Amino acid sequence: MAKPTSVSPNEITRPMQVGNTSFMLDRLGEDCAPLQFLRELTQNAIEGVQRVPEKSGEVIWDVDWNTQTLTDVFKLCVIDNGVGMTGEEMMQYINALSSSVNVLSSTGNYGVGAKIAAAPKNRTGLIYLSWKDGIGYMIHLWRDPHTGNYGLRQLDLPDGGVGYWAYVQDDVKPTIIDKHGTMVVLLGNETNGDTMTPPDGTPGYFGLTTDVVHVTRPNVGENDCLVVLISNYSYTMFSPYVAGSYNGPNIEVSVPLGLN
Ligand SMILES: Nc1ncnc2c1ncn2[C@@H]1O[C@H](COP(=O)(O)OP(=O)(O)OP(=O)(O)O)[C@@H](O)[C@H]1O
Ligand SMILES: [Mg+2]
Repeated sequence: MAKPTSVSPNEITRPMQVGNTSFMLDRLGEDCAPLQFLRELTQNAIEGVQRVPEKSGEVIWDVDWNTQTLTDVFKLCVIDNGVGMTGEEMMQYINALSSSVNVLSSTGNYGVGAKIAAAPKNRTGLIYLSWKDGIGYMIHLWRDPHTGNYGLRQLDLPDGGVGYWAYVQDDVKPTIIDKHGTMVVLLGNETNGDTMTPPDGTPGYFGLTTDVVHVTRPNVGENDCLVVLISNYSYTMFSPYVAGSYNGPNIEVSVPLGLN
């Protein structure tokens, strides 16, 4: 029988839980614009800088030169010299939805920005390297390829054990970071993928001129068609964060003439 609407102070409601966090993350990620992760990670870096007493610092988007030197692969990263996080803080704030150092509010922080915009676009992972009080820590947020679950990758620790955060040596510390700051490396969806390349669907405009469009009619008679090849054209992105223009891939379209 339904209970009366008055509530006893001793009554305990069982909180709703998430049945499948990874599905929810993928689903929320689909609603994000292709470059929204740039905004979210930049905003987190700015907020990290605003939390240092002097409220000023730097935010830099760059190549992760450590990875590039070791593997020749270009991975995008963002570096700030804001407050930084300890390993425990990263476990709390980066690996939980609606978890924020800020008070959650509909006009402020939701505690989800970087997770929904960046994690589904970087299934091999986001490496967070962060320094606080001169000590460096790291975590690897990824989508486990076996289970499909988002979470922290298990790390091998120097003592032979395993854990979800590890100390990092200062030789990987970016030059703008002294005692505190954070570097987030975007590994993308493929281990050897170049994450400096803008993701598919990045809004922008094509610098098309007649010089870049070539039309040929290779097979007069059978299979008669026009082949339109667009090559060597520039593509400029509508993003304040990514450098201007790059050469787009060749586009080839075959138009059957159907004259036979
Ligand atoms: N670069 C950083 N420096 C310091 N702390 C950070 C940094 N990036 C993330 N964090 C911590 O991780 C938390 C979670 O970040 P996330 O972007 O998921 O949510 P949020 O910024 O709190 O809220 P929003 O949904 O509005 O982005 C932040 O509240 C902050 O505590
Ligand atoms: Mg954020």
